[in-house]
Amino acid sequence: MGTEFERARRVAIISGKGGVGKTFITANLAATLSLNGSRVLVVDADLGLANLDILLGVTPDLSILDVIRGDQPLDKVLLQTQKGFDFLPAASGLPEGTALTQILAEGMESILGSIEDRYDFILFDAGAGVGDVVLFFAGLSDEILLVATPEPTSLMDTYAAIKILNQLHGRSGFLLVVNQTNPDHSGQIGTAVVGHLQSVISKFIDSDKKNPVRIELIGSIPMDPAIPHAIRQRQLLAEVSPDAPAASYIDHLADCLHARTAC
Ligand SMILES: Nc1ncnc2c1ncn2[C@@H]1O[C@H](COP(=O)(O)OP(=O)(O)OP(=O)(O)O)[C@@H](O)[C@H]1O
Ligand SMILES: [Mg+2]
Repeated sequence: MGTEFERARRVAIISGKGGVGKTFITANLAATLSLNGSRVLVVDADLGLANLDILLGVTPDLSILDVIRGDQPLDKVLLQTQKGFDFLPAASGLPEGTALTQILAEGMESILGSIEDRYDFILFDAGAGVGDVVLFFAGLSDEILLVATPEPTSLMDTYAAIKILNQLHGRSGFLLVVNQTNPDHSGQIGTAVVGHLQSVISKFIDSDKKNPVRIELIGSIPMDPAIPHAIRQRQLLAEVSPDAPAASYIDHLADCLHARTAC
């Protein structure tokens, strides 16, 4: 299934606060998009503290850093997963992945340039916060998908991330997924979170009036014990618990992202 983009649509999955569900969402969203016919590449953009491989149940020997250093060809590092999408793993515990250098930035751009015509979507699973590596991946992306939970700490950090991305990097459009909502009111909580963020932004971010900050809610995902269970099994939610409440929300999120409509 093609998209209106000539090259892959690059989507950076980012959050202000850590541990809100970016990696879980990236992996499961990628699988659903693939199942629906899109060609998807997932990049572990948490270059120094990778853990997407754990959720995917793979144990890569090599990482993006091996390609960037020139030690390995890309095709040896790029994995075709059993889940329908390709995966570019990062390294864990290597300090060179934690700071943005010119070598890293140029290497990453050259890797993407060489393969992006193979895909409809490239998803970057970013590390927590808005450090320079995360901002670099945001800058490479057509869309920024923010993940937040309804907790005040997450909302505050989401607001701060939007402010930084807007004021330092000129980004004004954001997609939002509200995760870990109360299962009885998941959609309403998502709508309330967007309303709250949008009102704080209009009060405190002096954005360009012609190009104001806009947040589009593209999904809410309820708190669901099937999710930590799937992660412990190193499998996707749809593989372990296809009937879990959160599974249908992931399907809906994939449809909204594909159609680029707010949900
Ligand atoms: N909707 C949910 N319901 C229940 N548990 C969830 C849900 N979403 C995420 N979790 C739990 O939250 C934990 C953190 O998720 P995940 O690793 O995807 O977060 P992250 O944002 O990628 O973290 P980091 O910032 O460290 O990269 C997981 O162990 C998972 O079990
Ligand atoms: Mg993560």
